Amino acid sequence: MQVFYEKAPFLEFVKDSQRLGQYRALVPTMGALHRGHTSLMDLARSHVDSGPHGYADGLVGTSIFVNPTQFGPNEDLDAYPRTLDADLEACERAGVDFVFAPTRPEEVYPEDPSVTVCEDTLSLRHCGAKRPGHFDGVCLVVAKLFHLFQAQAAVFGEKDFQQLAVIRRMVRDLDFPIEILSGATVREEDGLALSSRNTYLSAEHRALAPQIYAELKSCRECWDAGKYPSWQAAEEGLADRLRAIPEASLDYAHLVDSATLASPSGSQLPPEKYRFLVAVRFGKTRLIDNL
Ligand code: PAF
Repeated sequence: MQVFYEKAPFLEFVKDSQRLGQYRALVPTMGALHRGHTSLMDLARSHVDSGPHGYADGLVGTSIFVNPTQFGPNEDLDAYPRTLDADLEACERAGVDFVFAPTRPEEVYPEDPSVTVCEDTLSLRHCGAKRPGHFDGVCLVVAKLFHLFQAQAAVFGEKDFQQLAVIRRMVRDLDFPIEILSGATVREEDGLALSSRNTYLSAEHRALAPQIYAELKSCRECWDAGKYPSWQAAEEGLADRLRAIPEASLDYAHLVDSATLASPSGSQLPPEKYRFLVAVRFGKTRLIDNL
């Protein structure tokens, strides 16, 4: 596995790979890797090994970069877990071929950037309402990574469902020549969705956090059993269940169209087209999940 900490040698590597006619699949991360990330690397690996679009040879690449532009002024940029050595071992074990791990933001951002990327529809509700500017920062760094890696495919987790939808929209609207693949959420045995931020939870909150997924599942069961007269009742029912979790404070519980992230407009809701998105805080730690 080749690891690059600086942009210039990394760009040379990408040029060589292009000259060799290799396919590249990118798994962007901010490090603190867990099984959720490595499942995305596995997905990238099997996609590349399936010889997509007739490429004979292909590489899986990962970026490890805690992107400052997606953190708000009062968010956890400084405290965000940085575990580079363990992350590189995890990448190696997952069969990643190359890693771009810029250790300084200046490797990614010029001193005086004046161009940005702004998604102004899907980003505004849900997590975006509580984290103004967050998805613009995500779009900006992801757009830059797409350019730097010149990848034909990129893999994102469904756990960050709004992020996935926003990136798909950016790719559509700005004509990025890249295929976006998504990997299912990986969970602990008790149902808690894996997240680098789970390490912030106190023992008490960690024990309560699996109730988020349990409530999502019971809400879906009630929905399937026809117990809600309307989608609004299902949304309110889920919000009530989440508010009832001890110590939890509800940010939002929304039923949305999976592509537009908008609320349903009619009463007919084909289940494959809609998702519940939720965000719940335990103390200062904000957890998101969806089903
Ligand atoms: O999902 C993440 O870890 C980040 O938002 C991403 C996509 C790597 C951009 O920094």
